[in-house]
Amino acid sequence: MENKDNLAAQLDRLLQTTSAQRLREEFARLQGLMSCYRCAILEVETKFRVLNEQFSLQHERNPIESIKSRLKSMESIQEKLQRKGYPLNVESIQENLKDVAGIRVICSFIDDIYMLADCLVHQDDITLLEEKDYIKRPKENGYRSLHLIVEIPIFLQQEKKSMKVEVQLRTIAMEFWANLEHRLRYKKNLEPEVAQKTSRELQECAQVSAMLDEKMQSIRDIIEGD
Ligand code: GTP
Ligand code: MG
Repeated sequence: MENKDNLAAQLDRLLQTTSAQRLREEFARLQGLMSCYRCAILEVETKFRVLNEQFSLQHERNPIESIKSRLKSMESIQEKLQRKGYPLNVESIQENLKDVAGIRVICSFIDDIYMLADCLVHQDDITLLEEKDYIKRPKENGYRSLHLIVEIPIFLQQEKKSMKVEVQLRTIAMEFWANLEHRLRYKKNLEPEVAQKTSRELQECAQVSAMLDEKMQSIRDIIEGD
């Protein structure tokens, strides 16, 4: 009897250590993957900084106002995988999510957005996987931006890995609008009429901001003698 108990206890301990070991390995792989996404962000960010540098030498102005990068949080990764019915593991993150690494490039003028996107996707280590042009075709709520999903290789000690990065390019006006719209989206407890009215007003703001972008660009064209 004592022997049996001992055996069961030993087996139990073994199982526990095995799953703990597996968990540790999975966790290490997850950390490795997130580190690869951070490297991919660095690579793509550098490409934009290089383009900005070169353009500013030629044209005496910066096409890029600012760059914001973010790594999707573990909570958001889990929520998105579950919402879309994908398994929760390291492979699934890499296969099914395209926006773990995100870069937002904010420009003053719309044509700088297209110039930068074009330069990026024509670099020979970049593969364009997806493009959504919400500037030419704004979303119903008025959202505008150019979205690209690109794949970029990162070179590690022993291997080369291809990583997906989501790039959002937008003007200062588009960023201003999207930030306010994002806040409204998460604002709870608004009376339905107030929510509806505010959405309508935001749509109007989107039109005004699109007009502002166009006018600012034509004034700049006059200044630069295009
Ligand atoms: P997600 O599953 O949410 O990533 O959508 P998707 O895969 O269809 O991608 P899409 O390119 O449409 O949008 C991706 C990202 O763009 C979002 O995570 C937001 O950061 C931004 N975005 C898209 N639509 C809107 C919008 O209506 N308002 C705001 N504020 N941001 C938006
Ligand atoms: Mg997203």
